[in-house]
Amino acid sequence: MADDFCFFTMDSFIIKPPKKSPMMLRMVVLIFAMVCGVYICSVGLKQIGVRSSGGLSSIHVVEKPCEATDIEPSEKPYVHFPKPNTFSRAECACNRVRYFAILSTQRSGSGWFETLLNSHMNISSNGEIFSVKVRKSNVSTILETLDKLYNLDFLTSASKNECTAAVGLKWMLNQGLMQHQEQIVEYFKTRGVSAIFLFRRNLLRRMVSMLANSYDQNAKLLNGTHKSHTHSPKEAVILASYKPTINTTLLIPNLKQVDDMAVKAVGYFNSTRHIILYYEDIIKNQTILNYVQDFLKVPRKDLHSHQVKIHKGPLSSQVENWVDVEKTLKGTPYESFLHADYKI
Ligand SMILES: *[C@@H]1O[C@H](CO)[C@@H](O)[C@H](O)[C@H]1NC(C)=O
Ligand SMILES: *[C@@H]1O[C@H](CO)[C@@H](O)[C@H](O)[C@H]1NC(C)=O
Ligand SMILES: *[C@@H]1O[C@H](CO)[C@@H](O)[C@H](O)[C@H]1NC(C)=O
Ligand SMILES: *[C@@H]1O[C@H](CO)[C@@H](O)[C@H](O)[C@H]1NC(C)=O
Ligand SMILES: *[C@@H]1O[C@H](CO)[C@@H](O)[C@H](O)[C@H]1NC(C)=O
Ligand SMILES: *[C@@H]1O[C@H](CO)[C@@H](O)[C@H](O)[C@H]1NC(C)=O
Repeated sequence: MADDFCFFTMDSFIIKPPKKSPMMLRMVVLIFAMVCGVYICSVGLKQIGVRSSGGLSSIHVVEKPCEATDIEPSEKPYVHFPKPNTFSRAECACNRVRYFAILSTQRSGSGWFETLLNSHMNISSNGEIFSVKVRKSNVSTILETLDKLYNLDFLTSASKNECTAAVGLKWMLNQGLMQHQEQIVEYFKTRGVSAIFLFRRNLLRRMVSMLANSYDQNAKLLNGTHKSHTHSPKEAVILASYKPTINTTLLIPNLKQVDDMAVKAVGYFNSTRHIILYYEDIIKNQTILNYVQDFLKVPRKDLHSHQVKIHKGPLSSQVENWVDVEKTLKGTPYESFLHADYKI
C-alpha cells in the first residue's frame, strides 16, 4: 500500500514536471521522498509492533488450544471451547461445551422442560430468544444471535457460570425456523448444534391450552395479571377454570396443520444430530430426562421444576362444547385425542 502510493505520485510527478524552477522541483522531490520514507518506516514499525506484541501476548496467556483427545472422531464436531467476549471461563476454559436447541411449538411443555434443564448446574437454556421480532427479522440476524448465544455472550437469567457444559435456547417452529430452515440446518451442521424436538402427542389438549392461554391474555384471571405458567396449585385451578369453546369447522384443519408442521420440521432437520421427545412421555416417566442428559453429554442429575400443570383431568371437562368436538373427531385420525392419555 505504502509503496503503491509513492510510486504513483512519483510517476505522475516525472511525467508532468513543472518547468519554471528546477531548484524548487528538487526541493519538492526531496520533501516528497522524505515523507514517503517516514511513511514506509512507520508502516514497517507498526508491523514489527504487531509481531512483537503478538509474541508477548502468547507468552502471557499460554495459548495452548483446548483439546478433546479422548473422544470419538464422530463426536468432535459437537464439542466446543467457546471464548466469550463478556467474561472469562476461568478454570473451566477447557471444559467442553455442547450446543443445543429445543425445537417446539407453543403450549407443548417446552417452558416446563426448560426449567427442568436449567435446574442442572451445567445446562443453560436461554428461553425463547426468537420471540423478539428484530432477532428473527432475517437470516443474518438469526445467525448473529445464534453466534452470540453459542459463544456464551447472550446473557439471560438462565446464563450459568463459566462451567456451562451445554448451552441452548427454546425455539418455536413458527419463529423464523421453518422460514429459514435451509440456512439454519446448514448452521446446525457446520457449528455442531444438536436439536431436541419436543412435541405433544395430544394436539387437542394442546389446543385447549392455547385457547385458554390466549383468553387469559385479555381476561387476566389472576387478579389482573396474565400468566402462561404458574408455580402455584391454586393459580393453576383458577387458570383451568375457563372452558374454551372450540370452533369445530376449524378443528380438523388446525390439528392437521400443527401435525404437518411437526413432520415437516423433523424432515428438515433430519440430517442434524437430534432426538424427538413427547411431553406426555416425560410427564409419565421422568427417567427420559436421563436420556436427554446423556444426549447433551452432561453428568446425570435429578432435575426439578416448580411449575404446576394447569390443565389436569379428563379433557371432556375442559371444553365447553365437548359433544360437538367428540362428534367432529369420531372416525378421523384424531379420534384418539378424545381419550385422556394420562392422568395426574
Ligand atoms: C436484517 O435485519 C436487520 C434488523 O432488522 C437489518 O438491520 C439488516 O439490514 C437486515 N439485513 C438484511 C440482509 O436484510
Ligand atoms: C459443572 O459445573 C461444576 C461447577 O460449576 C464444575 O465443577 C464442573 O466441571 C462442570 N461440569 C462440566 C461437565 O463441565
Ligand atoms: C387476589 O387478591 C386477593 C386479595 O388481595 C388474594 O386474597 C388472592 O389470593 C389473590 N388471588 C390470586 C390468584 O393471586
Ligand atoms: C369458525 O371459524 C370460521 C372460519 O373462521 C367462521 O366462519 C365461523 O363463524 C366460526 N364458527 C364459530 C361458531 O365461531
Ligand atoms: C431421515 O433420514 C433417514 C436416513 O438418513 C431416513 O431413513 C428417514 O426416512 C428420514 N426421515 C425423514 C422424515 O425425512
Ligand atoms: C421409564 O423409562 C425407562 C427408560 O426410558 C424405562 O427403562 C423404565 O422402565 C420406564 N419406567 C416406567 C415406570 O415406565
